[in-house]
Amino acid sequence: MYMLDGKVAIVTGGANGIGASTVFLFHEHGAKVVIADIQDNLGQKIADKLGENVSYVHCDVTNEDDICNLIDTTVAKHGQLDVMYNNAGIMDSGSPFGRILDAKKSDLERVISVNLVGSFLGAKHAARVMVPQRKGCILFTSSATTAIAGMSSHAYAASKYAIVGVAKGLAAELGQYGIRVNCVSPFAVLGTGISGERSEADVSKAEFVLSNHVGNLKGQILKAEDVARAALYLASDEANYISGLNLLVDGGYSVVNPNMMNILSASMG
Ligand SMILES: NC(=O)c1ccc[n+]([C@@H]2O[C@H](COP(=O)([O-])OP(=O)(O)OC[C@H]3O[C@@H](n4cnc5c(N)ncnc54)[C@H](O)[C@@H]3O)[C@@H](O)[C@H]2O)c1
Repeated sequence: MYMLDGKVAIVTGGANGIGASTVFLFHEHGAKVVIADIQDNLGQKIADKLGENVSYVHCDVTNEDDICNLIDTTVAKHGQLDVMYNNAGIMDSGSPFGRILDAKKSDLERVISVNLVGSFLGAKHAARVMVPQRKGCILFTSSATTAIAGMSSHAYAASKYAIVGVAKGLAAELGQYGIRVNCVSPFAVLGTGISGERSEADVSKAEFVLSNHVGNLKGQILKAEDVARAALYLASDEANYISGLNLLVDGGYSVVNPNMMNILSASMG
C-alpha cells in the first residue's frame, strides 16, 4: 500500500538522521519529497540517489527568506504542498544534560532559534499555502522530553515543549481549513547527527544499555526508521481525523516508573 501516493511533502532536516529516514520512507510510499537542510552535500546525495521525485533545497530554517523560498519553490515545482514536516533540530553545544548554573544564554538562544523559531516559520509559510488549498498536514518533531523530565538540557526541553504548544494552537486555528497538525516525540535515537560523531561500536554499546537497562520496551532498539513510520502514519490519510496529538514514540517509557516496585520487591525478598 502506498500511503502517500500523489502527495507532496517537505522534510526539514531531511539530509540526516530521522529526517533522512523519513525522506526515504515518504518516497517509498509514493510522495514527491523536498529535502530542506543546511548540509547541502548530504541532502543533494539523497536526492540524486532517489531520482526525480526527490529534490533538495538549501534552507536554514532560522531564516524566514529561506523558508519562504523553500515553500514557493516546492509549490512552483509540484503545484501543491500536502505535508510540511518541521523536523530540523539541534541540541546545546555543551552537555546535553547541562545544569541550569552552567547554562549559557547564547546556547538557549541558538537552540530556541533552530528548534522553535525554525519550526514556527515552517508552519507559518506552509499554512500560507495550505489555507487556500483547504487541506494539508503540518508535523513537528518534538521529543519525549515533553512527557518526562530530566532527559535533556533545559534549553532543549523548553524548545520542544514550545513546539507542542505551537502545534496544539495551530490544530485549533487551522482545523477550520481541514489542516491537521501533530507532533512526533521520540525517546533516544542513537547514531543520528544530533549528539555528535560517535563510532559504531559506541553507538551499539549505548543502544544496548538503553534497550536493556533504561527503556521500557525490552528487546527493541528505537531507530530513526521507527520515528519515520510514526510520521508516515500521521502524514497519511490513515490519520485523517487525528489533529493536536503529541505522539510519543517511546515504548511507554514516559508513563512507566518501575522504581517503587523494583525497590519494594528487592527489599521484601
Ligand atoms: N535523536 C534523538 O534521540 C532525538 C530524540 C528526540 C527528538 N529528536 C529530534 O529529532 C529531530 C531530528 O534529529 P536527529 O536525531 O535526526 O539529528 P540529526 O542531526 O541527524 O538531524 C538534524 C538535521 O537538521 C539539520 N539542521 C540543523 N540545523 C538546521 C537549520 N538551521 N536549518 C535546516 N536544517 C538544520 C541538520 O543539518 C540535520 O540534517 C530534531 O528535531 C531532534 O531534536 C531527536
